[in-house]
Amino acid sequence: MTSGSNETSNRKDEHLDVCLKNDVSSGVSAGWDSIRLPHCALPDADCNQVDLSTEFLSQKLRAPFLISSMTGGSPRGEDLNRMLARLADEKQIAMGVGSQRVALESRNSKLFQLRKVAPKAVLWANIGAVQLNCGVSADDCAWMVDQLGASALILHANPLQEAIQKEGDRDFRGLWTKVATLKKNLSVPVILKETGCGLDEASCRRAIEAGVDALDSAGLGGTHWGFVEGLRHSERAPLGEIFRNWGIPSVESLKNCVRVSAGRVPTIASGGLRSGLDVARAVWLGATLGGMALPFLEAASQGEKSLAQFYDLQEEALRIAVFCSGHRNLREFRNHS
Ligand SMILES: Cc1cc2nc3c(=O)[nH]c(=O)nc-3n(C[C@H](O)[C@H](O)[C@H](O)COP(=O)(O)O)c2cc1C
Repeated sequence: MTSGSNETSNRKDEHLDVCLKNDVSSGVSAGWDSIRLPHCALPDADCNQVDLSTEFLSQKLRAPFLISSMTGGSPRGEDLNRMLARLADEKQIAMGVGSQRVALESRNSKLFQLRKVAPKAVLWANIGAVQLNCGVSADDCAWMVDQLGASALILHANPLQEAIQKEGDRDFRGLWTKVATLKKNLSVPVILKETGCGLDEASCRRAIEAGVDALDSAGLGGTHWGFVEGLRHSERAPLGEIFRNWGIPSVESLKNCVRVSAGRVPTIASGGLRSGLDVARAVWLGATLGGMALPFLEAASQGEKSLAQFYDLQEEALRIAVFCSGHRNLREFRNHS
């Protein structure tokens, strides 16, 4: 590995430690608790037969769950990724890997090799959008997609994280033009995602104009990346504290995506989703999928069995929410009027 890729790889492990050992949530509610789904006293449905299957970017999933992008690129991150990818494969849900920058910097084709353990999983590649200002090209993105055997590329937008991170990339000028060019030159769909500060309406609009195929709202109320970066370096900690509540709460961010896209592109809801009931609330508001990061990480850090138990519980919670609100499948539930 080059010294740049070593630094990136160490940073990724520090992120895992900081997130697992601290309360890294913002002080603002994501808003999921305020969404009350209607109760139906006598549903015309069999709870055991509720069909949670859905389609996203032409791919079939057994349930509308996404393991949100987190890790990879260090031995520990690679282990976690293999565990998460096995779950995605077995449960037929989607998974985004963490930033592949370390693999790109070192051109290490041994990293992010998940197909051996997850031959059929829906996997998505990931890189920071600002990296397009740091020399990452469409060919580089195609290489990452290829390495992973991914069916889409996630570009993450994280201005607050980069601004607070000691070694962050701070020049975000001209990125929309670069996203549009990348989109024209890449053969797989591109998803634009925040990392916990949410998507504003103007950014949703510009993303769609740039040709982006899906939005991930990643709003405020869950893991807060400004705060996480503050915890990594004591001299940046005061900034992390000052900005701990910065961002657009998740429900508001999801509504921005749904309103602006008006059905043209699908939306993933994320940021502070903590249960299958939260995923149901997000789908009720118009999301196609619900993504969780930290809850999957916490479960995976307890081992493979805990991870599977965590997922089964959340799938069951979603099934119960669909049933108890009087629906037989996710399509009916989503299209309630
Ligand atoms: C340990 C960890 C590492 C993360 N790394 C990335 C990353 O590399 N790329 C990315 O797009 N998002 C990354 N995220 C952000 C998550 O995908 C997600 O947007 C954010 O944590 C909010 O979701 P949550 O409240 O469910 O954790 C990371 C999250 C965690 C917990």
